[in-house]
Amino acid sequence: MSQKEPIILAIESSCDDTSVAILKNETILANLIAGQEVHRVYGGVVPELASRAHLQNIVPVIEAAVQKADVALGDIDAIAFTKGPGLLGSLIVGTSFAKSLSLALDIPIIDVNHMFGHVLAHFIDDDGKSKPKFPFICLTVSGGHTQIVLVRDYLEMEIIGATKDDAAGEAFDKAAKMLGFEYPGGPLIDKHSKSGNPFAFGFTKPRVDGYNFSFSGLKTGIMNFLNKEQLHDPNFIEENKSDLSASIQHTIVEILMTQLKRVSDDYGIQEIAIAGGVSANSGLRNRLVEDGNKFGWNVYIPRFEYCTDNAAMIAITAKFMFGKGLFADQSVTARARIPFTY
Ligand code: KG4
Ligand code: ZN
Repeated sequence: MSQKEPIILAIESSCDDTSVAILKNETILANLIAGQEVHRVYGGVVPELASRAHLQNIVPVIEAAVQKADVALGDIDAIAFTKGPGLLGSLIVGTSFAKSLSLALDIPIIDVNHMFGHVLAHFIDDDGKSKPKFPFICLTVSGGHTQIVLVRDYLEMEIIGATKDDAAGEAFDKAAKMLGFEYPGGPLIDKHSKSGNPFAFGFTKPRVDGYNFSFSGLKTGIMNFLNKEQLHDPNFIEENKSDLSASIQHTIVEILMTQLKRVSDDYGIQEIAIAGGVSANSGLRNRLVEDGNKFGWNVYIPRFEYCTDNAAMIAITAKFMFGKGLFADQSVTARARIPFTY
């Protein structure tokens, strides 16, 4: 087994995307994702349907990834998988498949924390793009999590702030639903914001202790505001879709960036990264660059395909675990919630 440049096959199945990546050293040879359209009509992810779709997708996605990477199964040094956090039924599909494949190929398995994956996606070798230097701060914003993470080393991280209720992605998706957008509405708010005025409507920002976040008050505020306006004008939402999108996006970005700035000031760290599905948001990406210029930060923004859930981020995390000999055994199980540590 080559210790220098391990080839790792990684499986990510924590929510509604079945993804398989193949990594050689720090280079991604394949990163394929099968999404699940089945949830769209329900306005959110239906766990039972997600695990069934993972079962249908996993073999074809693995076959396609191996073909794309042009590697033989016998060349793979380890199988990585997302152990958690996520939807249990979905995680079980990836975990069970990884365990069987590792037995069949007689190679080790590596159990990866999904949230470490989002952060470490920054270390995928990407056309010489510069990588964050330790210690850095990472704002991880996804559909299930909103965290400010102090990253001391590849596998040494500490959550110093988190949401007390809804995640930032959830806030985008719930607001989007109120505006009549399909699930997941975050990207649609982003799209409509481009032609809207971010200052057209003002929403109250929450007061939260420490470096934490809260988005449930904003959700209620938006709902009450829309209900009130629709009493006067039933077409209010339709007539103001772009301005509403831009104002909601501006408020969420403002909430996130205010806390990030406080952390940077208090910890004296100017290496600032974002990660997770919401880091695909153009408002957040632009604002991070602007604030970076203003405050003298070095900012790190993942490529779009490494923002939302993907197996490449699981593979790169597994690579660092491989280097430290952090392997799991066949007794490992998927877990909906796991501690933020190795
Ligand atoms: O990281 P991710 O793919 O899955 C989780 O681990 O949750 O994040 C998905 C979330 C969804 O809430 C989705 O609406 C949001 O990321 N998202 C966006 C954008 N792209 C994805 N939110 C705002 N603007 C976007 N461009
Ligand atoms: Zn995620």
